[in-house]
Amino acid sequence: MPNPSLLILPGDGIGPEVMAEVRKVIDWFGTHRNLTFDVTEDLVGGCAYDKHGTPLTDETMAQAQRVDAVLLGAVGGPKYDDLDFSVKPERGLLRLRKEMDLFANLRPAQCFDALADFSSLKKDVVAGLDIVIVRELTSGIYFGEPRGIIEEGNERVGINTQRYTESEIERVCRSAFELAMRRGKKLCSMEKANVMESGVLWRQIATEVGKDYPDVELSHMYADNGAMQLVRNPKQFDVIVTDNLFGDLLSDAAAMLTGSLGMLPSASLGAPMENGRPKALYEPVHGSAPDIAGQGKANPIACILSFAMALRYSFDRGDDAMALEGAVEAVLAQGLRTADLLGEDGKDPVTTSEMGDAIVAALGAG
Ligand code: NAD
Ligand code: IPM
Ligand code: MN
Repeated sequence: MPNPSLLILPGDGIGPEVMAEVRKVIDWFGTHRNLTFDVTEDLVGGCAYDKHGTPLTDETMAQAQRVDAVLLGAVGGPKYDDLDFSVKPERGLLRLRKEMDLFANLRPAQCFDALADFSSLKKDVVAGLDIVIVRELTSGIYFGEPRGIIEEGNERVGINTQRYTESEIERVCRSAFELAMRRGKKLCSMEKANVMESGVLWRQIATEVGKDYPDVELSHMYADNGAMQLVRNPKQFDVIVTDNLFGDLLSDAAAMLTGSLGMLPSASLGAPMENGRPKALYEPVHGSAPDIAGQGKANPIACILSFAMALRYSFDRGDDAMALEGAVEAVLAQGLRTADLLGEDGKDPVTTSEMGDAIVAALGAG
């Protein structure tokens, strides 16, 4: 059997800093678990634009299609804000998602016991929280046509189009029901069927798919209410399924239930291939955090937990994923905190690299 293959795309800002910690974890699995990956590393985002004039070369795209899984840090930064849309760092990531057809983006928000006091919400509200947002990732207003900025009369008009086909809604809902079956058997579908036709269709399709999953309790919620319910009483949810834009917003909000955006991992999955595994890209939910880049302040846990998701969903190593999640939990229980978890005037934060080292140490010699 050849080694499983990984393409690592650290990207911009804190991306390379948090990915360096994942590399330590990958090395640990090579040494202690006989799990050696064939790793290639390449550029995506602003750094790829600087070198090649494009945020993702065709060669890197082709490599992403070939490997068993892609790990990505983060892309973007103020330096690139004024670039044309076609070459913005974010386009590199969007191209990967679209061309790999990674339609189901799983964004778990779990509140570790040691961090229940660190959320901006009351401890009772978040303690024990364990939910997953399933965000549609390859369609909707991110990709709909027409789009652009056009001249109309004597002013400019910015245009984006929300567009969903039945099959696009169906496949992501099916993924969410399948996930709910393996969890608490509750699924809440969020849209705005009160004002958007795409939301009306979304609700109909979610209901139809639900007939195949009689054991899952399906509910529907307008996404604005959903945002409010997520901060009022997040533990009412198990799995949430929603569109691309709502999923982007709701998952950043859910991040704060766990203590920090630096805690949230994600898996972006396509349909199963011939080998039974989905095409997959794993990345933290957070961005390149230009405000703290290069200072050793970034929390690497979101990226490390994204690798744990890769172990689970791409490499059938659920036990190893649990071992890694357990190591993260142990380190937090010891009281180690990066600056993001401590708030404005928090004392004695550990650095990105110290956090990575501690997690590797907690994995043990075994
Ligand atoms: P951001 O997620 O980069 O940062 C938001 C805030 O959270 C900042 O204060 C940042 O310091 C903090 N933060 C984020 N991750 C952290 C971590 N691991 N540890 C500690 N603190 C962390 O969002 P933004 O500032 O709105 O965007 C910055 C750039 O990142 C933009 O170019 C944006 O397009 C891009 N972005 C990329 C991705 C991605 O690559 N998947 C996701 C979101 C944003
Ligand atoms: C995310 C990011 C991306 C998105 C950007 C960088 C394209 O915010 O992954 O959440 O909007 O999907
Ligand atoms: Mn986002």
